[in-house]
Amino acid sequence: MAANLAVAQRAAVAIETALGRVYWADSLDVMREACASGSVDLIMTSPPFGLVRKKDYGNADAWDYLDWFRPFAEHFRRILKDNGSLVIDIGGAWEPGQPTRSLYHFKLLIMLCEEYGFHLAQEFYWWNPSKLPTPAEWVNIRRIRVKDAVNCVWWLSRSPWPKASNRRVLQPYSDSMQVLLRDGYKAMKRPSGHDISTKFALNNGAAIPPNIIAAANTESNTAYLRYCKHHGIAAHPARFPAELPGFFIQMLTDPGDLVLDPFAGSCVTGEVAERGARRWVCVEMMEEYVEGARARFCRPSSDGQPGQPAAPAQYRLSKPGLQALAEGGEPLSPDGGRVRPASAKRRAEQG
Ligand SMILES: C[S@@+](CC[C@H](N)C(=O)[O-])C[C@H]1O[C@@H](n2cnc3c(N)ncnc32)[C@H](O)[C@@H]1O
Repeated sequence: MAANLAVAQRAAVAIETALGRVYWADSLDVMREACASGSVDLIMTSPPFGLVRKKDYGNADAWDYLDWFRPFAEHFRRILKDNGSLVIDIGGAWEPGQPTRSLYHFKLLIMLCEEYGFHLAQEFYWWNPSKLPTPAEWVNIRRIRVKDAVNCVWWLSRSPWPKASNRRVLQPYSDSMQVLLRDGYKAMKRPSGHDISTKFALNNGAAIPPNIIAAANTESNTAYLRYCKHHGIAAHPARFPAELPGFFIQMLTDPGDLVLDPFAGSCVTGEVAERGARRWVCVEMMEEYVEGARARFCRPSSDGQPGQPAAPAQYRLSKPGLQALAEGGEPLSPDGGRVRPASAKRRAEQG
Protein backbone atom coordinates (compact mmCIF):
# COMPACT_ATOMS: atom_id res chain seq x y z
CA MET A 1 0.00 0.00 0.00
CA ALA A 2 1.61 3.28 -1.06
CA ALA A 3 0.24 6.63 -0.03
CA ASN A 4 -0.07 8.80 -3.11
CA LEU A 5 -0.22 12.56 -3.38
CA ALA A 6 -4.00 12.79 -3.46
CA VAL A 7 -4.28 10.98 -0.16
CA ALA A 8 -1.45 12.94 1.39
CA GLN A 9 -3.47 16.07 0.61
CA ARG A 10 -6.89 14.88 1.65
CA ALA A 11 -6.21 12.38 4.40
CA ALA A 12 -3.64 13.52 6.87
CA VAL A 13 -1.15 10.91 8.05
CA ALA A 14 -1.36 11.75 11.73
CA ILE A 15 1.06 9.23 13.20
CA GLU A 16 3.86 7.30 11.56
CA THR A 17 6.17 4.57 12.86
CA ALA A 18 8.71 2.32 11.18
CA LEU A 19 5.97 -0.22 10.44
CA GLY A 20 2.73 1.67 10.19
CA ARG A 21 0.71 4.83 10.02
CA VAL A 22 -2.52 6.26 11.34
CA TYR A 23 -4.65 8.31 8.95
CA TRP A 24 -7.06 10.85 10.33
CA ALA A 25 -9.54 10.34 7.51
CA ASP A 26 -12.57 8.54 6.18
CA SER A 27 -11.38 5.02 5.47
CA LEU A 28 -13.36 4.91 2.23
CA ASP A 29 -11.09 7.68 0.90
CA VAL A 30 -7.95 5.94 2.10
CA MET A 31 -8.95 2.58 0.64
CA ARG A 32 -10.06 4.17 -2.63
CA GLU A 33 -6.91 6.19 -3.14
CA ALA A 34 -4.12 4.40 -1.36
CA CYS A 35 -4.89 0.69 -1.19
CA ALA A 36 -3.84 -1.38 -4.15
CA SER A 37 -5.98 -4.37 -5.08
CA GLY A 38 -4.82 -7.60 -3.42
CA SER A 39 -2.40 -5.83 -1.08
CA VAL A 40 -3.75 -6.49 2.43
CA ASP A 41 -3.26 -9.70 4.44
CA LEU A 42 -5.71 -9.00 7.24
CA ILE A 43 -8.46 -6.47 7.84
CA MET A 44 -9.01 -6.56 11.60
CA THR A 45 -11.72 -4.22 12.72
CA SER A 46 -14.62 -3.33 14.91
CA PRO A 47 -17.02 -1.12 12.94
CA PRO A 48 -19.49 1.21 14.60
CA PHE A 49 -22.30 -1.08 15.73
CA GLY A 50 -25.90 -0.64 14.65
CA LEU A 51 -26.91 0.36 18.13
CA VAL A 52 -30.40 1.46 18.94
CA ARG A 53 -29.12 4.31 21.11
CA LYS A 54 -26.77 6.46 19.05
CA LYS A 55 -23.25 7.02 20.36
CA ASP A 56 -21.10 10.15 20.03
CA TYR A 57 -19.37 8.85 16.94
CA GLY A 58 -22.62 8.47 14.99
CA ASN A 59 -23.52 4.80 14.74
CA ALA A 60 -25.92 4.01 11.95
CA ASP A 61 -29.30 2.66 13.03
CA ALA A 62 -29.71 -1.08 12.69
CA TRP A 63 -32.04 -0.91 9.68
CA ASP A 64 -29.80 1.10 7.37
CA TYR A 65 -26.65 -0.57 8.57
CA LEU A 66 -26.31 -2.83 5.54
CA ASP A 67 -26.55 0.03 3.07
CA TRP A 68 -24.00 1.97 5.07
CA PHE A 69 -21.64 -1.01 5.05
CA ARG A 70 -21.81 -1.79 1.30
CA PRO A 71 -19.10 0.60 0.03
CA PHE A 72 -16.73 -0.72 2.71
CA ALA A 73 -17.49 -4.30 1.68
CA GLU A 74 -16.60 -3.46 -1.96
CA HIS A 75 -13.20 -2.16 -0.94
CA PHE A 76 -12.52 -4.94 1.55
CA ARG A 77 -13.07 -7.51 -1.17
CA ARG A 78 -10.88 -5.61 -3.61
CA ILE A 79 -7.90 -4.90 -1.37
CA LEU A 80 -7.60 -8.27 0.38
CA LYS A 81 -5.14 -10.84 -0.91
CA ASP A 82 -6.65 -14.13 -2.09
CA ASN A 83 -5.41 -15.84 1.07
CA GLY A 84 -6.25 -12.85 3.27
CA SER A 85 -8.85 -12.55 6.03
CA LEU A 86 -11.45 -10.04 7.14
CA VAL A 87 -12.20 -10.21 10.87
CA ILE A 88 -15.16 -8.16 12.13
CA ASP A 89 -15.91 -7.77 15.82
CA ILE A 90 -19.54 -6.75 16.06
CA GLY A 91 -21.86 -6.43 19.04
CA GLY A 92 -25.54 -7.27 18.97
CA ALA A 93 -28.34 -4.77 19.57
CA TRP A 94 -31.78 -4.78 21.15
CA GLU A 95 -34.84 -3.76 19.19
CA PRO A 96 -36.10 -0.39 20.44
CA GLY A 97 -38.71 -0.71 23.18
CA GLN A 98 -39.03 -4.50 23.24
CA PRO A 99 -37.00 -7.35 24.69
CA THR A 100 -35.92 -8.89 21.39
CA ARG A 101 -32.68 -8.75 19.47
CA SER A 102 -31.88 -7.10 16.19
CA LEU A 103 -30.71 -9.38 13.39
CA TYR A 104 -28.48 -6.72 11.83
CA HIS A 105 -25.14 -8.41 12.49
CA PHE A 106 -26.38 -11.74 11.13
CA LYS A 107 -27.73 -9.91 8.08
CA LEU A 108 -24.33 -8.28 7.65
CA LEU A 109 -22.67 -11.70 7.70
CA ILE A 110 -25.10 -13.07 5.14
CA MET A 111 -24.73 -10.00 2.94
CA LEU A 112 -20.93 -10.25 2.98
CA CYS A 113 -21.07 -13.92 1.99
CA GLU A 114 -23.95 -13.89 -0.45
CA GLU A 115 -23.46 -10.50 -2.13
CA TYR A 116 -19.71 -10.00 -1.86
CA GLY A 117 -18.50 -13.58 -2.14
CA PHE A 118 -16.75 -13.83 1.23
CA HIS A 119 -16.49 -17.22 2.92
CA LEU A 120 -17.27 -17.68 6.60
CA ALA A 121 -13.99 -19.26 7.71
CA GLN A 122 -15.28 -19.52 11.26
CA GLU A 123 -17.49 -17.61 13.63
CA PHE A 124 -15.95 -16.59 16.95
CA TYR A 125 -17.43 -15.12 20.10
CA TRP A 126 -15.66 -12.59 22.28
CA TRP A 127 -16.83 -13.14 25.84
CA ASN A 128 -16.30 -10.06 28.00
CA PRO A 129 -16.73 -11.28 31.59
CA SER A 130 -16.89 -7.68 32.82
CA LYS A 131 -19.86 -6.65 30.61
CA LEU A 132 -22.56 -4.84 32.57
CA PRO A 133 -26.12 -6.17 32.53
CA THR A 134 -28.18 -4.04 30.10
CA PRO A 135 -30.80 -3.01 29.17
CA ALA A 136 -31.68 -2.62 32.84
CA GLU A 137 -35.43 -2.81 32.15
CA TRP A 138 -35.26 -6.35 30.72
CA VAL A 139 -32.31 -7.72 32.67
CA ASN A 140 -32.33 -6.10 36.13
CA ILE A 141 -35.90 -4.90 36.61
CA ARG A 142 -38.29 -7.30 34.87
CA ARG A 143 -35.65 -10.09 34.93
CA ILE A 144 -36.85 -11.58 31.65
CA ARG A 145 -33.49 -11.62 29.79
CA VAL A 146 -29.94 -12.39 30.84
CA LYS A 147 -26.71 -10.43 30.56
CA ASP A 148 -25.51 -10.07 26.97
CA ALA A 149 -21.79 -10.69 27.39
CA VAL A 150 -20.58 -11.80 23.95
CA ASN A 151 -19.78 -10.03 20.72
CA CYS A 152 -19.84 -11.95 17.48
CA VAL A 153 -16.55 -12.01 15.63
CA TRP A 154 -16.96 -12.97 11.99
CA TRP A 155 -13.79 -14.40 10.47
CA LEU A 156 -14.31 -14.12 6.73
CA SER A 157 -12.00 -14.85 3.85
CA ARG A 158 -11.77 -14.22 0.12
CA SER A 159 -11.12 -17.89 -0.61
CA PRO A 160 -12.01 -21.00 1.40
CA TRP A 161 -8.28 -21.30 2.19
CA PRO A 162 -7.05 -18.20 4.04
CA LYS A 163 -3.61 -18.65 5.53
CA ALA A 164 -3.94 -19.61 9.19
CA SER A 165 -2.43 -21.76 11.89
CA ASN A 166 -3.95 -22.61 15.26
CA ARG A 167 -0.44 -23.55 16.45
CA ARG A 168 0.17 -19.82 16.89
CA VAL A 169 -2.62 -19.40 19.44
CA LEU A 170 -2.36 -22.47 21.65
CA GLN A 171 -3.52 -22.12 25.24
CA PRO A 172 -2.43 -23.68 28.52
CA TYR A 173 -4.18 -26.97 29.24
CA SER A 174 -7.23 -26.76 31.53
CA ASP A 175 -6.92 -28.15 35.08
CA SER A 176 -8.92 -31.26 34.15
CA MET A 177 -6.76 -31.93 31.09
CA GLN A 178 -3.64 -31.61 33.22
CA VAL A 179 -5.04 -34.20 35.63
CA LEU A 180 -5.81 -36.46 32.69
CA LEU A 181 -2.30 -36.06 31.30
CA ARG A 182 -0.83 -36.81 34.71
CA ASP A 183 -3.04 -39.80 35.59
CA GLY A 184 -3.44 -41.25 32.13
CA TYR A 185 -6.53 -41.81 29.99
CA LYS A 186 -8.34 -45.09 29.34
CA ALA A 187 -9.27 -45.34 25.66
CA MET A 188 -13.02 -45.87 25.33
CA LYS A 189 -16.10 -45.19 23.27
CA ARG A 190 -17.98 -42.08 24.39
CA PRO A 191 -21.81 -42.26 24.77
CA SER A 192 -21.92 -40.13 21.59
CA GLY A 193 -20.23 -43.00 19.71
CA HIS A 194 -16.89 -41.18 19.35
CA ASP A 195 -13.96 -43.48 19.77
CA ILE A 196 -11.45 -41.63 21.95
CA SER A 197 -8.08 -43.26 21.44
CA THR A 198 -5.07 -43.11 23.77
CA LYS A 199 -3.67 -40.38 21.47
CA PHE A 200 -6.08 -38.05 23.27
CA ALA A 201 -3.81 -38.18 26.32
CA LEU A 202 -0.67 -37.14 24.40
CA ASN A 203 0.89 -34.06 25.90
CA ASN A 204 1.35 -31.63 23.02
CA GLY A 205 2.46 -28.87 25.36
CA ALA A 206 -0.68 -26.77 24.98
CA ALA A 207 -4.33 -26.94 23.94
CA ILE A 208 -6.05 -25.92 20.71
CA PRO A 209 -8.27 -23.00 21.69
CA PRO A 210 -12.04 -22.91 21.18
CA ASN A 211 -13.79 -20.24 19.12
CA ILE A 212 -14.53 -18.24 22.26
CA ILE A 213 -12.08 -15.54 23.22
CA ALA A 214 -12.41 -14.58 26.86
CA ALA A 215 -11.02 -11.15 27.59
CA ALA A 216 -12.31 -8.63 30.11
CA ASN A 217 -12.42 -5.03 29.01
CA THR A 218 -11.23 -3.59 32.29
CA GLU A 219 -8.40 -1.21 31.44
CA SER A 220 -8.04 1.26 34.28
CA ASN A 221 -4.58 2.76 34.72
CA THR A 222 -2.88 2.17 31.39
CA ALA A 223 -0.53 4.51 29.57
CA TYR A 224 -3.33 5.13 27.04
CA LEU A 225 -5.81 6.28 29.69
CA ARG A 226 -3.20 8.29 31.58
CA TYR A 227 -2.17 10.00 28.34
CA CYS A 228 -5.78 10.88 27.48
CA LYS A 229 -6.39 12.24 30.97
CA HIS A 230 -3.16 14.24 30.98
CA HIS A 231 -3.98 15.84 27.61
CA GLY A 232 -7.69 16.39 28.33
CA ILE A 233 -8.70 14.02 25.53
CA ALA A 234 -11.80 11.79 25.74
CA ALA A 235 -10.72 8.14 25.83
CA HIS A 236 -12.39 6.06 23.14
CA PRO A 237 -15.61 4.64 24.65
CA ALA A 238 -15.64 1.33 22.72
CA ARG A 239 -12.10 -0.02 22.71
CA PHE A 240 -11.52 -3.72 22.27
CA PRO A 241 -8.91 -5.46 24.43
CA ALA A 242 -5.50 -6.11 22.84
CA GLU A 243 -6.09 -9.87 23.13
CA LEU A 244 -8.74 -9.72 20.42
CA PRO A 245 -6.69 -8.31 17.50
CA GLY A 246 -3.67 -10.09 19.03
CA PHE A 247 -5.30 -13.50 18.58
CA PHE A 248 -6.16 -12.98 14.90
CA ILE A 249 -2.97 -11.16 13.93
CA GLN A 250 -1.00 -14.03 15.45
CA MET A 251 -3.09 -16.77 13.85
CA LEU A 252 -3.60 -15.23 10.40
CA THR A 253 -0.50 -13.20 9.52
CA ASP A 254 3.28 -13.53 9.41
CA PRO A 255 5.75 -10.84 10.46
CA GLY A 256 5.99 -8.27 7.68
CA ASP A 257 2.39 -8.85 6.50
CA LEU A 258 0.03 -5.90 6.18
CA VAL A 259 -2.84 -5.40 8.66
CA LEU A 260 -5.52 -2.73 8.12
CA ASP A 261 -8.02 -1.39 10.65
CA PRO A 262 -10.43 0.91 8.77
CA PHE A 263 -12.43 1.79 11.93
CA ALA A 264 -9.43 2.15 14.18
CA GLY A 265 -10.75 4.14 17.14
CA SER A 266 -7.87 4.31 19.61
CA CYS A 267 -5.67 2.16 17.29
CA VAL A 268 -5.32 -0.94 19.47
CA THR A 269 -4.89 -2.93 16.24
CA GLY A 270 -1.97 -0.76 15.17
CA GLU A 271 -0.26 -1.09 18.51
CA VAL A 272 -0.59 -4.88 18.59
CA ALA A 273 0.55 -5.18 14.97
CA GLU A 274 3.58 -2.98 15.65
CA ARG A 275 4.60 -5.15 18.58
CA GLY A 276 4.16 -8.25 16.45
CA ALA A 277 6.42 -6.83 13.68
CA ARG A 278 3.56 -6.62 11.17
CA ARG A 279 3.12 -3.63 8.85
CA TRP A 280 -0.13 -1.86 9.59
CA VAL A 281 -2.47 0.98 8.63
CA CYS A 282 -5.12 2.42 10.93
CA VAL A 283 -7.79 4.86 9.78
CA GLU A 284 -9.94 6.86 12.16
CA MET A 285 -12.13 9.79 11.22
CA MET A 286 -12.55 11.41 14.65
CA GLU A 287 -9.64 13.71 15.41
CA GLU A 288 -9.92 13.29 19.17
CA TYR A 289 -9.51 9.51 18.97
CA VAL A 290 -6.47 9.91 16.72
CA GLU A 291 -4.99 12.33 19.22
CA GLY A 292 -5.51 9.76 22.00
CA ALA A 293 -3.94 7.05 19.85
CA ARG A 294 -0.62 8.92 19.97
CA ALA A 295 -0.21 7.38 23.44
CA ARG A 296 0.24 3.98 21.85
CA PHE A 297 3.18 4.97 19.67
CA CYS A 298 5.14 7.48 21.71
CA ARG A 299 6.19 5.58 24.79
CA PRO A 300 8.46 2.73 25.78
CA SER A 301 6.52 -0.53 25.74
CA SER A 302 7.26 -1.33 29.38
CA ASP A 303 3.83 -0.32 30.62
CA GLY A 304 2.38 -3.82 30.58
CA GLN A 305 -0.98 -2.84 29.02
CA PRO A 306 -2.41 -3.08 26.47
CA GLY A 307 -0.73 -5.19 23.82
CA GLN A 308 1.95 -6.55 26.10
CA PRO A 309 1.62 -10.33 26.34
CA ALA A 310 -0.18 -10.75 29.64
CA ALA A 311 0.00 -13.81 31.86
CA PRO A 312 -2.84 -16.04 30.61
CA ALA A 313 -5.82 -15.62 32.91
CA GLN A 314 -8.42 -18.37 33.30
CA TYR A 315 -12.05 -17.33 33.33
CA ARG A 316 -14.64 -19.77 34.53
CA LEU A 317 -18.18 -20.13 33.26
CA SER A 318 -20.69 -21.52 35.73
CA LYS A 319 -22.88 -24.42 34.70
CA PRO A 320 -26.58 -23.53 34.34
CA GLY A 321 -28.35 -23.40 37.70
CA LEU A 322 -30.14 -26.74 37.97
CA GLN A 323 -30.44 -26.21 41.71
CA ALA A 324 -32.74 -23.25 41.15
CA LEU A 325 -34.86 -25.45 38.87
CA ALA A 326 -35.39 -27.93 41.70
CA GLU A 327 -36.40 -25.15 44.09
CA GLY A 328 -39.06 -23.80 41.76
CA GLY A 329 -38.76 -20.08 42.42
CA GLU A 330 -41.08 -17.23 41.49
CA PRO A 331 -43.79 -18.28 38.97
CA LEU A 332 -43.20 -17.03 35.43
CA SER A 333 -45.39 -14.23 34.34
CA PRO A 334 -47.70 -15.64 31.59
CA ASP A 335 -47.56 -12.36 29.62
CA GLY A 336 -43.77 -12.69 29.23
CA GLY A 337 -43.14 -9.58 31.32
CA ARG A 338 -45.17 -7.26 29.06
CA VAL A 339 -46.61 -5.55 32.12
CA ARG A 340 -44.05 -4.58 34.74
CA PRO A 341 -44.89 -6.78 37.74
CA ALA A 342 -45.22 -5.14 41.18
CA SER A 343 -41.98 -6.79 42.38
CA ALA A 344 -40.16 -5.29 39.36
CA LYS A 345 -41.65 -1.87 40.12
CA ARG A 346 -40.22 -2.12 43.65
CA ARG A 347 -36.83 -3.17 42.26
CA ALA A 348 -36.85 -0.20 39.86
CA GLU A 349 -37.73 2.20 42.66
CA GLN A 350 -34.93 0.82 44.83
CA GLY A 351 -32.57 1.51 41.90
C1 LIG B 1 -16.18 0.55 17.55
S1 LIG B 1 -15.07 1.87 17.25
C2 LIG B 1 -13.51 1.06 17.11
C3 LIG B 1 -12.75 0.97 18.41
C4 LIG B 1 -11.39 0.35 18.27
N1 LIG B 1 -11.49 -1.06 17.92
C5 LIG B 1 -10.60 0.49 19.55
O1 LIG B 1 -10.31 -0.53 20.20
O2 LIG B 1 -10.30 1.61 19.94
C6 LIG B 1 -15.43 2.34 15.59
C7 LIG B 1 -14.67 3.57 15.13
O3 LIG B 1 -14.86 3.74 13.73
C8 LIG B 1 -14.78 5.13 13.45
N2 LIG B 1 -15.35 5.33 12.08
C9 LIG B 1 -16.64 5.25 11.70
N3 LIG B 1 -16.75 5.43 10.37
C10 LIG B 1 -15.50 5.63 9.90
C11 LIG B 1 -14.95 5.89 8.61
N4 LIG B 1 -15.74 5.96 7.53
N5 LIG B 1 -13.62 6.05 8.50
C12 LIG B 1 -12.82 6.00 9.59
N6 LIG B 1 -13.27 5.77 10.84
C13 LIG B 1 -14.59 5.58 11.00
C14 LIG B 1 -15.55 5.77 14.58
O4 LIG B 1 -15.23 7.14 14.74
C15 LIG B 1 -15.13 4.89 15.77
O5 LIG B 1 -14.06 5.48 16.48
